[in-house]
Formats: sequence, structure tokens, C-alpha cells
Amino acid sequence: MFENNLNSEALFDLYETGYDPEQAVTTGSNYMFGNGYMGYRGTHPDATKEHFAACIVSDTYDTADGKWNELCNVPNGLFISLSINNNQLSGFSEDLNHYKRQIKLDTATLCNEFENDQVKVQVERFASLDQLHLLAMKYVITPKNQGDANLVSGIDGDVWSINGEHFQEFRVSKEADALLMHTVTKELGTDIYVAECTLIDGVPGTADSLESNEKQAFRKLSIKLSEGEPLIIEKFVAIYSGNDTEDPKSAALQDLHEAIQQGYQSAHDRHSLKWSELWNSYDIQIQGNDRDQTLTRFNLYHNIIHTPTHALLPVGARGLSCQAYQGAAFWDQEIFNLPMYLYTNPAIAKNILMYRYQTLEGARGKARKLGYRGAFYAWISGKTGAELCPDFFFKDVISGRKIRNHFNCWQIHVSPDIAYTIWRYYEVTGDKQFLQQYGAEMMLDISLFLMSRSFYNVDKQRYEFIRLLGPDEYHENVDNNVFTNYQARYVIEKTLDVVGQLKAERPDHLQQVLEKLDVSEEVLSTFEDMVRKIYVKVPNNDGVIEQFDGYFDLEDVRPEILKGRLIDKSEYWGWPNGVAVHTQVLKQADLIQLFVLHDDFDQELLKTNFDYYEPRTEHGSSLSPAMYSIIASKIGYRDMAYKYFVKSCTVDLYNTNKAVSGGTFIGGIHTASCGAVWQMLVFGFAGFSEHHDTLYFKPSLPKDWHQIRFKLHHRLNFVHVTIDREQIVLESAPENKDALSIDIAGNTRTLEPGQRLTTVNH
Ligand code: BGC
Repeated sequence: MFENNLNSEALFDLYETGYDPEQAVTTGSNYMFGNGYMGYRGTHPDATKEHFAACIVSDTYDTADGKWNELCNVPNGLFISLSINNNQLSGFSEDLNHYKRQIKLDTATLCNEFENDQVKVQVERFASLDQLHLLAMKYVITPKNQGDANLVSGIDGDVWSINGEHFQEFRVSKEADALLMHTVTKELGTDIYVAECTLIDGVPGTADSLESNEKQAFRKLSIKLSEGEPLIIEKFVAIYSGNDTEDPKSAALQDLHEAIQQGYQSAHDRHSLKWSELWNSYDIQIQGNDRDQTLTRFNLYHNIIHTPTHALLPVGARGLSCQAYQGAAFWDQEIFNLPMYLYTNPAIAKNILMYRYQTLEGARGKARKLGYRGAFYAWISGKTGAELCPDFFFKDVISGRKIRNHFNCWQIHVSPDIAYTIWRYYEVTGDKQFLQQYGAEMMLDISLFLMSRSFYNVDKQRYEFIRLLGPDEYHENVDNNVFTNYQARYVIEKTLDVVGQLKAERPDHLQQVLEKLDVSEEVLSTFEDMVRKIYVKVPNNDGVIEQFDGYFDLEDVRPEILKGRLIDKSEYWGWPNGVAVHTQVLKQADLIQLFVLHDDFDQELLKTNFDYYEPRTEHGSSLSPAMYSIIASKIGYRDMAYKYFVKSCTVDLYNTNKAVSGGTFIGGIHTASCGAVWQMLVFGFAGFSEHHDTLYFKPSLPKDWHQIRFKLHHRLNFVHVTIDREQIVLESAPENKDALSIDIAGNTRTLEPGQRLTTVNH
């Protein structure tokens, strides 16, 4: 069904029937499974570092080469390889009668099948959602004749690592039936334990021999095969790092022991039950186009598996799919990953924002270092919130010289984007406790940063933000980017609202926070002044808003023309010398991004600006197409909205984005576009928005879709939304506490708990 031999049987799965080694990086990411604690790449069971096998574990940040602080790829405990009558057999073999690799999205289970004239092998693997440190595998060999099977099963510590070796030593021991590998990270000395057990027909396998070298520990097992009698091998692996617990060794052995007692099937059942609960919150059902249904679930699935929910840790821009982008959070986290949670499972949205609260010190440190007050959140934020983005992110592939990009010091919109999200969280959930206890401090500190970063233009009597990067990363060192200035003004205004709320409701707490942050009355009046006087550009005579000062003076070309100007196709297009720098070509949605975040712009303005910026946007970032899809839906460009929906949903499946840019590996799962699928469907096609406690719907479904159905949350009340061509049906859950105000096509109604409201879809 899909390009690259990707198909679906049940609309909850993807499979391929042929292996393409050229696509190994991409397919290993696409077929991966995970549980927010760890991500295991969807390769074959005998894959090694050459095949980009990886098990990326959250909270294992370490710097191997002095430059890139990233998550570790830990020793691979699920490694197993098979020979039949001394011939190696695996999914990589070329002479197979049958081959299938399938990811079952409903239970996050990877299935591999391969078969030759002698045996059929069926493998299942998953990372338990019930026990986050546990990996499990079932490996079934069905012989077609008698023969000898030789298995090598154990832990492979010789792993793929993109920026150097992270481990300084390996120690292997045998603990009862388990193999245990202990390694220690190079920079921080973090202990990592991987415990593994292999069971043959339910009992721990007795190895002919145990082989271990510096980084690997393998058992060799020889087994006689009888025709038609399946041999069942199960593997359990438990992983802990010293950041998870005081005694990671005991924890790993304990979990392994419990898994063995429990058995594979029961472990899988418990895991599957947890997954069905998740899908109950997050699924969006589409009728009328099976491919789009599968694409949607594929993206929702990835947004889920890469989100750590067990601790206050970032959602990485490439999640847990590999080490690219350092396993760290960007603005993507709040603006792309979080909205799905906010409207379906707000506890996760809160967790993400609490991570930002926990990392405030990192943001304060960054502001101080650059000479500002307040909280300047990191462009690339790991465990502590300290800036992880190196000064030299890309290199000029023609000269080989490093490029000094300014993502880490001029891209200031990340701070107001976080404050914006805090306010959105409050509006949708009504969670005053969070807002007052944590949000207020973050918002005040962010506003303080914005104040100290602003420039008061005395001649023009206005506050400006100069020398920055907006979302469009190709243009550095620009002034008055509309997105940034607008977000700053909005956030400072909302901060003053929070101050007002605290003054009335918790004056002592307000006093404490103001004192802690050294915010005086004078600062608060400057905030007020800023709300009145931050410069936000207005449309020109043609109704177009200029993205930043001087943008209209740049060469007006199209991305296709720029492609023709490249000397090397992996060249970086942006600062200082890239092909886009002196042109109006944008890397990604910028003003259009602002329109997604705020509903204050009229249709005419949206349309004029969409028409202007759309042909000039390269979509060089995977974040971009989804935003164009949402605005296209809002302005009635139905086909365009759908075109961008498909583009966004297939970024990973069709491997459409650059895996290497300016010499830096940026492959792996694009979690932002995965999160954005939810937004395209709900904000775009369903036309949902929420203001002042009223839920608005203005749907515009793609041509061949008959229906979409999803669940929404608003202030602890749940609503099932079903939209088809004829009608919009809203069902309020019987356990809801409040009546909800609903607006469809300008008609406002009240939806009582347990009530069903049917409206004509115009
Ligand atoms: C985009 C940024 C984004 C980052 C991580 C870059 O290519 O331009 O907006 O935050 O990737 O996804």
C-alpha cells in the first residue's frame, strides 16, 4: 500500500515483505517499539551496529567526544542469531521463501517472520508498558525437517553510537540463570546494567558455552530440531541505569526474575491491556480512507512511545529512535508534541510542563551567561535544562569549515512558547494550582528575560526584539520577527493576568515569588508598558505581514530555484552563506505558525498571507507541512490541507527529510510531525478551537473521508466527537461534572453531562 514496501493489514499495523538495506536507518526507526523509558529500533533480532540496532534509554545523557551531550545506546540484550545445519538464517538472508517485518501499533509489538526450505521463524518483541524496564522476545522456530539449530543469544555491547564510544568499561557476570552486563558511561560515570535470560521451551537454556569478549557476552546453544515441532525461545531483558535507582543491579535482576516467573504471555497480556487504555484516549478513527487511518495511527503511536511519562524528562526531537538531536527537547515539545496530551490526557501535558519547571535553573543559567535576567530556556534541553546546543552545529560541506549558527543564543522564542503553553494548559484544564504554584514563577521569569532581552527604540517609542532567529531558521540575525514579538507580547500580558490572579487569591505566595525573582513594582509597570508598546508588524497595503524587518527586500525566489543553486546537495541552506540567506525562501512555517497558535486573525488575512508564504516555504523542517495543513483547512483550501496532511504524515514513512544536513546526522523519527498529526485532524479538519470555555467546531473533511471520531477533554469533562459529511455528533460522558458550551457555525448550545447533541454539518 505504501511506498517503500510498507503495507497495512488491520489499520493498526505496518508491514513490509522485502528488506532494503539502503533504508536501514529509516525502517529501523519506523518499526521501532518503546515505552517512553526506552526505545528499541525495529531491526532484525540478529542486527548489530552495522544495521543500526539500538536501544536508547532515557536519562542516560553523557558526552563521549567533548561536544555532543546525548542519550546512550545501551548494550543490546535482545540479540539472538540462528544457524540451521551450520547455515546462518535471519531476516537479512537473501534466499528466503518468505519475509515479513510488521509493527503492530495497537500493542507496540514488533513481529518478524522469515522462512527458508528448512524452517520458519516467527519473532515477537516488545518493551513493556506495564514494567518500563523490561524488554521481551518470543522466538519460535518451526522446523520443516529434522536438523540442528545453533543459537547465539546474549548481550551485545558493541553498539552504534553517532558521536563516539560512551562506555568506559564492561563487566560481564553470570547471576543464576541471568547474564549481566555492567557498563559505565565515560563522562559522568553513570552505571548501566543490562540483565538477560534466555528460556528454551519455558526453562532457562543451558549453554554449551559462554563466550564473552570485551563488549559482548553470548551463550551458544545447540538444539536438535524435529520436523513440525516448534521450538519456543523466550528472552527477557531488564535495564536500569544509576539515574533510575540507587541499586540498578539489584533492580535489573529483580525485574528479570519477576518476568521469568510471570512468563512471556502474561507479560504481553498486561502490556497490551495498558496499550488499549492508551488508545482509548488518543485514537482518532477515520472512515473512508484506510491509508490515512494507518498513517494517522502510525504518527500517534510514535508521539506516544517517545514521550517519557515516568519522570520529568524531555520529549526528544527524534525521541528515543536514535541519538540524533541529542535525545533533547526543543520548542517542538510544547508546540508540537504536547497539544495532543493537553486535550486527551492532561496529566501528561502537566508532566511535560513540570519538566520545564524542574529545569528552570538551567534556563536561568543560560540567561545569566548571556547577560540577561530571567529564564532563557535552552534551544536543546536535556536533563538539567542547560543549553546542549553546540556553537558549531553544522559545517560548510564545501570548505569543511565549521559554521557558527546561533540557535543556542538568538533563537529566543522558545521561552515565550513555553509560557504560552503554560497559559493554554491553564485555560484548557482550569488547573489553578499548577498555574499559581509553578506556572506563575516560570511565566514571570520568562517575562523578565523578555524584558531584559528587548530593546527600547527611543525614536520610535517601542520595544523591539533584535538580532534573533524566528521559527524560520534559515534567517539568522533578524530584527522584529513577527512570531517572536507577538508571542512575547502575549506572554507578558498573560503574566500580568496571573499576577492579578495571585494578588487577589494568594498575595503571600505572589510576594514570595516576586521576591525570589527580584521582580519589583517598577518591573511590573515595565511589563505593562511592554504590552502596550512591543512592536508587532501590521499588514502592508497588500495585506501581507512582513516576517521580519527587511524581509521584503530580499530576493524573491522559490525553493525549486534555490535547489538548482546548490553546489553540494547536503549543503546547509541557512546562515551565513547558504542559498536561502539572501532570499525570501523560508525553511518552515513562521507567520503561518503564529496563526496556528492564535485565533485573532481574520480569514482574509490568513488567506492573503498563506498565498504569499506558501510558495516561498521550503518545508526544510518536518515541523512545517502540518502547520500549513491546519491553516489551509481554516481558509477552506481543502485539497491543499490534505496535501500537507499526507506530506506531514509521511515524513518518516517515506523518508522525505534530510538525514544529514551540513554534515550533521539528523535522521530518526521526527516526533514533532508525529505529534502534529493530532493537530491537523482536530484543529484542522475538525476545525476545533476553544475560547473562554466554549468549544468551537468548524469541520472541513478531506474529500474521500466519510467520518472522523475522537475524544476530547475540557476541564475534566470528556466529549466524544463524531464528524461526518451530514452531521456533527457530540456525546458528553455521563460522568462529566459540567455542562459544556458548544459553538457550531455560530450557534451556541449547552451540552449536559451524558447528553448527545446532533447538529447538521454545513
Ligand atoms: C527546525 C526547528 C526544530 C528542530 C528540531 C530544526 O530543523 O528548524 O524548528 O526545533 O529542527 O526538530
